[in-house]
Amino acid sequence: MKFFVDSADVAAIAELNALGMVDGVTTNPSLILKSGRNILEVTKEICDLVAGPVSAEVVASTAEDMIAEGRHLAEIAPNITVKVPLTWDGLRACKVLSDEGRMVNVTLCFSVNQALLAAKAGATFISPFIGRLDDINLDGMELIADIRQVYDNYDFKTEVLAASVRTPNHVADCARIGADVITAPPAVIKALANHVLTDKGLEMFNADWAKTGQSILLK
Ligand code: E4P
Repeated sequence: MKFFVDSADVAAIAELNALGMVDGVTTNPSLILKSGRNILEVTKEICDLVAGPVSAEVVASTAEDMIAEGRHLAEIAPNITVKVPLTWDGLRACKVLSDEGRMVNVTLCFSVNQALLAAKAGATFISPFIGRLDDINLDGMELIADIRQVYDNYDFKTEVLAASVRTPNHVADCARIGADVITAPPAVIKALANHVLTDKGLEMFNADWAKTGQSILLK
């Protein structure tokens, strides 16, 4: 399963990238706002840092304008993935941009039928939002499982990019289901290393080691 970082914070992306944890990056207008940066500049910096796909989202509402924005964003770097919303205009833009050989991520997916349409429009990635479904008492993980099954039933090549990932449990469940990619904020990816028994075990080992009076590096 690939790990994408859901962020426009270059320093946070760089920290995880140095550990080999970053297979790609996703951004959206809210994350650009949070970064306080110009979209073209910050996206270029991220593309220079990360070799994998970097999603940059269009903000137009008509297909024609989305296509124009998508082509402009794609000029930033070869690893740009144009992110379009799951509307009919977004699907039209997806078809045109993917026919041009560009990577397209169709975002704001909340149903299996929407995922089917994105696959048929040639999307490289479909982004079903887990957390936002959970927020309204629906089951985000059930949607990931359903899309996985439907894509496998018909051998669609579109990758399932589980988005709106809020907890380590979301990540583990996506891995069990077989999502191709998860995109999560840096804090969630860092939290994957945490376990209370790891902390407790380390504390005990350190206490016992201190009692030996030994040092590994000094004789
Ligand atoms: C995905 O591409 C989105 O940027 C993101 O995962 C949305 O997450 P949120 O629902 O936590 O804002």
